[in-house]
Amino acid sequence: MKFFIKNYGCQMNLYDSTRMTDALLAAGYEESPKKDDANILIFNTCSIREKADEKLFSDLGRAKSLKFKAKDRGENFAIIVCGCVAQSKTTEITDRAPYVDAVIGPQEIHKIVSAVKTALSKSDEDESIFMSDMASKEKFASFQSEQITKRSCSEFLTIQEGCDNFCTYCVVPYTRGREFSRDVADIIEETKKLVSLGVKEITLLGQNVNSYRGEGPDGKNWSLSKLLYAIAEVEGLARLRYVTSNPKDVAKDIAEAHRDIKILASFLHLPVQSGSDKILKKMNRKYSVNQYLDCVDMLRKYRPDMAFSSDFIVGFPGETDEDFEKTLELAEKVKYAQAYSFKYSPRNKTAAAKMDNQVPEKIKEERLEILQNLLNDQQNKFNEETIGKTVSVLFTKNGKFKNQLVGRSEYSQAVSICDKAIHIGDMVNVKITELKSHSLLGSIEEEK
Ligand code: 5AD
Ligand code: SF4
Repeated sequence: MKFFIKNYGCQMNLYDSTRMTDALLAAGYEESPKKDDANILIFNTCSIREKADEKLFSDLGRAKSLKFKAKDRGENFAIIVCGCVAQSKTTEITDRAPYVDAVIGPQEIHKIVSAVKTALSKSDEDESIFMSDMASKEKFASFQSEQITKRSCSEFLTIQEGCDNFCTYCVVPYTRGREFSRDVADIIEETKKLVSLGVKEITLLGQNVNSYRGEGPDGKNWSLSKLLYAIAEVEGLARLRYVTSNPKDVAKDIAEAHRDIKILASFLHLPVQSGSDKILKKMNRKYSVNQYLDCVDMLRKYRPDMAFSSDFIVGFPGETDEDFEKTLELAEKVKYAQAYSFKYSPRNKTAAAKMDNQVPEKIKEERLEILQNLLNDQQNKFNEETIGKTVSVLFTKNGKFKNQLVGRSEYSQAVSICDKAIHIGDMVNVKITELKSHSLLGSIEEEK
């Protein structure tokens, strides 16, 4: 029986989808590259912004007709909704789409195999299956490294999940629950397994990686920096990243790790959200603009080539033109290598959704356009400055043209080359020769 998983949302969701794939393959199911060939459709959903969850319902409409056609042919068929929308809109999903067989929250996805079995054998008259416990410990304890069979050369590894920060705009504490850190030994075992399968680059994931406090082999709680030093010792690993950091938790030990650990990329995703202290306070971010800028300076002091990316929200309740100007000023100061920006979207259960002075949609759109133009210019400038320089690139996939390979530099820039001698999984020094839209072109540095 074939399954197809559609993934929405963040990297953590992608990680969850890969682990579900591992478990289903180990149980004898087959993965289908196309939705139409599968009898088990799994939607791993995201609820971070409006569009993300609306997409689910339009996809479910299409899944329904596939299910009814299969049933007409006398075949078993299951539609399963997992992830953050499953957690936050459990019964709304089955009210709107009663043909959904199972709804599984992000902390229950390790039960996917038994959910699939039950969903396939149940009739349409039977109740849908609901799983929405929020205990991450059980989830990670039941993932087995032996189940990991194939991977690309760059992979994610979740080290921490959930969030206790309660930023007032954010739905995550209500979908992924309280903070939980995996044990060090568990993470090292998974790292070794991934490297043995040819993985060269690992990106450690957590909603809040800096508050990692997993138990070490010495019985003590380890910090993120201590974990980074330990993972960097795993032989064969060529590059290490981690995401997402909350600026309030980035301390000197992290800057020192960037100074000391060669394989740690010179790149950090450090979401600022707003450049106005008033808005940061209303967002409950627990840092000021100056503290953020100090953090950037500290990291650049310890690792001079450090590049940054960020997330921004425009049109948070109460954001005035002056507040927005301050966001532009902050971006001017930091000079980002890349960044993501979003219009504020009120989320169910969050404090900001109930705040006064919600900003009209038109103003949000105007501000977003201005900010995105600035951030685009910064990204182009950063990329232009790389021309003539040599960067280390891990090639991860084939490009559109013959012999073309595409990869990422340590600064997370897309780089492509045409060189028969280079293969997927190679990490090599590339001399950058040209910038084409958002992608850099280069050639292999000749040995002197
Ligand atoms: N509205 C708009 N953007 C949001 N983000 C999180 N919640 C919201 C929301 N309610 C953005 C933040 C976060 C990124 C993952 O998504 O910028 O860093
Ligand atoms: Fe979306 Fe947040 Fe859930 Fe990731 S954790 S899938 S971004 S809602």
